Amino acid sequence: MPATEGGRNEAALCHVDEIEDGGAKGFRVEAYGIEHRLFAVRRGRRLYVYRNDCPHVGTPLDWAPDQFLDRARENIICATHGALFRVSDGYCFHGPCVGASLEPVFFEVRGEVLYVPIDTLEDP
Ligand code: FES
Repeated sequence: MPATEGGRNEAALCHVDEIEDGGAKGFRVEAYGIEHRLFAVRRGRRLYVYRNDCPHVGTPLDWAPDQFLDRARENIICATHGALFRVSDGYCFHGPCVGASLEPVFFEVRGEVLYVPIDTLEDP
C-alpha cells in the first residue's frame, strides 16, 4: 500500500505488533507498476526485511502465507528446495545456494509502523 506522507514516497507495511515476536510476515508492494514481494522477521524489537525471492531460482520462499521460518523458527527456509538462511543477514548456509544471500530491503520504523521507501525497490 504505497503512500505519500509528508513528501515521502513510501509504503506503510504494517504496525510492528502485527508481526508476531519470533515470527515473520509477507507483503506485496506495488512500486511504479511492478509488484515486489517482501517479508519481515521480528525478533523482539529488532526487525529484518528482505525481498521474498530465493537466490537459487527466484521463487518466493514461503510455502503458505507468512511461513518463512524453519520448524524451530531460528532460520529462514525456502519452501522450494529447503535452503536455510540466517535471519540476521540473509546468508544461505545450507542448501543449493550456499554462499548466496537474500536481498535486504531498506526500511524505517516510525511510530511503531514499518515503512519501506518506494524508491529503494526500483531495481529488484
Ligand atoms: S528456490 Fe529456494 S532453494 Fe531452490
